[in-house]
Amino acid sequence: MLTIQDLWKKKAEGRKITMLTAYDYAFARIVDEAGIDVILVGDSLGMVVQGKENTLSVTMDEMLYHTAMVSRATKNAMVIGDMPYLSYQISVEMAVRNAGRFIKEAGAHAVKVEGGSEVIPQVKAMVKAEIPVLGHVGLTPQAILRMGGFRVQGRTEEQRKRIIEDSLLLQEAGAFAIVLEAIPMDLAKEITEKLSIPTIGIGAGPYCDGQVLVLHDILGLFERFTPRFVKRYANLKEEALKAILAYKKEVEEGLFPAEEQSFR
Ligand code: KIV
Repeated sequence: MLTIQDLWKKKAEGRKITMLTAYDYAFARIVDEAGIDVILVGDSLGMVVQGKENTLSVTMDEMLYHTAMVSRATKNAMVIGDMPYLSYQISVEMAVRNAGRFIKEAGAHAVKVEGGSEVIPQVKAMVKAEIPVLGHVGLTPQAILRMGGFRVQGRTEEQRKRIIEDSLLLQEAGAFAIVLEAIPMDLAKEITEKLSIPTIGIGAGPYCDGQVLVLHDILGLFERFTPRFVKRYANLKEEALKAILAYKKEVEEGLFPAEEQSFR
């Protein structure tokens, strides 16, 4: 299994870290087989799997259910469970208990939390409890009500300063790496150079130590909206549709099942 130390080594050697989301056994098998370093069981599953408008209603039980499926499928990648909205913001004790459930019940190797200075006590307590933590700053989808939607962050001097400070605070608190989401690439570059831990970008340009995207976005399985930072590498929806239409036609025409799919 890929370790935190392997990720640090990659940063030190200037080798890029690869991360993708996955939410179930079948896709996690493929991502793992492809040699992706880290699988994030993101709360983005609220949107791409559950069909919700945002991630806010995703629950701990749902996250544990999906994380356990991904853990069972994974041989080499590091598996990170994404802590859902209000599973860590309310109190430090609740945060440690819920983070621990990802490790004990779902087989995750680490957890991810969104936010900066406001979650530092939680991050410190999790690290103290031997739970590796991935930070997440910039556009933090659990804060969309405050941010007014999925908007690029760090364009004003004030926001820029805050994102840099938050990244440094997370590093000091013991986070092993930080996701930088939807921020200008020069800001991501500055943070990446300032930090000794790796930065993983999503919509943060090419200068981060690694990149992450939502699996359903790169495979063409989520159509509702496509952020500018997404690159689609396949159109699995079209492929799936073709296969399902062929099956439907064959059943309707009596061509399936044939001899070889039938028993004597
Ligand atoms: O929920 C998620 O999938 C994420 C990543 C896209 C960073 O937070």
